[in-house]
Amino acid sequence: MAEDGNKGEAAKLSGAGYEVDLPVIHGSIGPDVLDIRKLYGATGRFTYDPGFTSTASCESKITYIDGDVGILLYRGYSIEQLAETADYLETCYLLLYGELPNAKQKEDFERTITYHTMVHEQLNYFFRGFRRDAHPMAVVCGVMGALAAFYHDSLDIENPEHRKISAHRMIAKIPTIAAMAYKYSVGQPFIYPRNDLDYVSNFLHMMFSVPGEDFAQSEIYTKAMARIFILHADHEQNASTSTVRLAGSSGANPFACIAAGIASLWGPAHGGANEAVLTMLYEIGSVDRIPEFLERAKDKNDSFRLMGFGHRVYKNYDPRAAALKDSAHQVLEALGAQDEPLLKLAMELERIALEDEYFVERKLFPNVDFYSGIILRAMGFPTSMFTVLFALARTVGWIAHWSEMVEDPTQKIGRPRQLYTGPVQRDYTPVAKRG
Ligand code: SDX
Repeated sequence: MAEDGNKGEAAKLSGAGYEVDLPVIHGSIGPDVLDIRKLYGATGRFTYDPGFTSTASCESKITYIDGDVGILLYRGYSIEQLAETADYLETCYLLLYGELPNAKQKEDFERTITYHTMVHEQLNYFFRGFRRDAHPMAVVCGVMGALAAFYHDSLDIENPEHRKISAHRMIAKIPTIAAMAYKYSVGQPFIYPRNDLDYVSNFLHMMFSVPGEDFAQSEIYTKAMARIFILHADHEQNASTSTVRLAGSSGANPFACIAAGIASLWGPAHGGANEAVLTMLYEIGSVDRIPEFLERAKDKNDSFRLMGFGHRVYKNYDPRAAALKDSAHQVLEALGAQDEPLLKLAMELERIALEDEYFVERKLFPNVDFYSGIILRAMGFPTSMFTVLFALARTVGWIAHWSEMVEDPTQKIGRPRQLYTGPVQRDYTPVAKRG
């Protein structure tokens, strides 16, 4: 663990009646941390950091972000290299096990995942309980949590074999569940997974094929889909990953933890932003209305924000947004839709925002959600499925962090404290005596 041999010069904290040394711990790269675990015992005081803007919640070896430079590494490999040359399942293997698989490991992993893509036939009846017009994120969140009702044989999180089978089941089944949520919403029959297709082609098959005819796979789509999945696979301690870690710290079963992650991702400030970007672009409608919306984004009395812009960590261009901007051009050009008005509008919006003092001063750049929706819409996905695709891709990242947390010998249940500013103790008054 970090404490082993990575300690630096302690920081001293002194105040009214206390002085305490806070050990400094170095990571392999990135900011050092001040170890404050003994702070309350030594000073009777908590730290205060709502939103965790300056707080490292854990030690991790999975993903590294340098937000100032715009670097994203999965187990040390740059997102640019992985998005360009890796496939999604080997990226999953890398995130889960820390190394890229050799040929045998890759083949075994692909076979394991392929042969777990089917869901229990009884699960089909879960969907019948939802309205057809339910948001697919509500359905996917509910069904993921319900998997705990099916897989009683792999819920002992202390058992490495149980953790492994649960991880493989969720990575294998999330595309099937996502496609079922879509099919249910459009009133089409569920399409069973096929074992002769790779992970991404199988997903597109379950999404877009119909019983009456064969589905013609498109290399443009499978390549773009794989790239989108890789770019969304993990991102350090973001809100949904932190939700999964906190849920898992109580010993909750992995299906419940991932369902919690899906619920957190759905928020428009997080993964729900990709759907919100498309809604925003439709609302802006034309380039001449951009100034009006930029003024609204700056107006503190207006709740409108420029969706797909800004990031807690990136104070430079999100490397994923750059990769997705390229993909958007490639997909639209391949479809002969390079003049797609939404893409033109998004690019002009980006250009004007990046020259605007408000955005420049606050280092607000496009993030992963700004261009993804334009590609997904061109591929035929309804806007309501955008965040489901984000959840599909991020499932492996959530599981990698959940596993790392469960396997950490120093792990404790997460239990933050607070700054209390509510009423001090007072006595109960009978209703007859209240004002
Ligand atoms: C994801 O954490 C992750 O890694 C997440 C993610 C992942 O892969 O898991 O990268 C995925 O969630 C990407 C972010 C998607 N969300 C959006 O695109 C929604 C729009 N963005 C904002 O809501 C906002 O930028 C956040 C939520 C992303 C970040 O918010 P912060 O870090 O809490 O920043 P802040 O709200 O304190 O903003 C700082 C300033 C404020 O102005 P001042 O009070 O200093 O005057 O910037 C302003 C904000 O008002 N600001 C924006 C803005 N984002 C920040 N103003 C207008 N439009 C925006 N989009």
